[in-house]
Amino acid sequence: MTDVKAWDTYSRSKEPRREANAAGERTWFNWTQFPDHGPGAEVLTVAPGTAVLDLGCGKGGNLAHVATLGARAVGVDVSPAQLQAARERWGDLEGIEFHQRAALDFLTDTGERFDAVFSVFGAVWFTEPSTLLPAVRDRLKPGGVLAFSQRPPVEGCYGAQASYINRPQDEDPLVVKRWDYEPEVWVDMLHAHGFVRAEARVIDAPEGSNRTGTLLVRCQNPTG
Ligand SMILES: C[S@@+](CC[C@H](N)C(=O)[O-])C[C@H]1O[C@@H](n2cnc3c(N)ncnc32)[C@H](O)[C@@H]1O
Repeated sequence: MTDVKAWDTYSRSKEPRREANAAGERTWFNWTQFPDHGPGAEVLTVAPGTAVLDLGCGKGGNLAHVATLGARAVGVDVSPAQLQAARERWGDLEGIEFHQRAALDFLTDTGERFDAVFSVFGAVWFTEPSTLLPAVRDRLKPGGVLAFSQRPPVEGCYGAQASYINRPQDEDPLVVKRWDYEPEVWVDMLHAHGFVRAEARVIDAPEGSNRTGTLLVRCQNPTG
C-alpha cells in the first residue's frame, strides 16, 4: 500500500518526542506543531473509565498522556514503523492499545463506541471527510467529542491536496492526500454531518515565529 510506505518513510525521519516537556512532565498533550504551546487534553472529555480513540496516533505521545489520565486509550495508525516506536515507548502503560489499520477500516470494523475521538495532524487530515465523518459519528457515544488539529489551508487551496513526504537524495518525494478547508467550512461540514456545537479556530504560532499556526476543530455527537 502506497500510504504505508509513505508513512513508514515519514516515521524514520521524525524525531521521537522529548523525554520531558518544559514543565518537567513525562507525558503531555500537544495539539500544535510547536513545543509547550496551545491547549492540552482539556479539549477532550477524558476521565477515568472513558474510552478515547486516536486516529493516526503516530509514535503515541498524545495517546500516552490520555492513558495516564485513566482512560482506555486506543491508537490506530497505518504505519508499522510508527506503531513499533509507539509500542516500544508506551506499550507498558495501563489502558493503552495500538492497532495497525487505516482509520476508516478500524471505525467500520470495531464494535466499540468512544467518549472521544481525536487526531493530531493525523488520519482525519488524510482521509476524505465525507467518508470519515459519518464513520466517526457512528462510533461516538451520545455527547462524545471529536477534535482534531492540522495546518490551516493555504489561501485558495481547498479540498484534496497533495502532501509530500521527502526522501533522501535523488528519489522523488512520496505523495499522500490530505483535505484542507477554512475553519468556517469545517463548521458547516460538521453540522451537515449531524455533529453539534462545532467550532474551529486557528491557534497562532508562538510569538516571534514566522510559521503558520494550527487549525483546531472540535464538535460533539448529539446527546439524544
Ligand atoms: C503527521 S503524522 C502525526 C502523528 C501523530 N498524531 C503526532 O501528532 O505525532 C500522521 C500520522 O497519521 C497516520 N495516518 C495517515 N493516514 C492514516 C489513515 N488513513 N489511517 C490511519 N493512520 C493514518 C500516519 O501513519 C502518521 O503516523
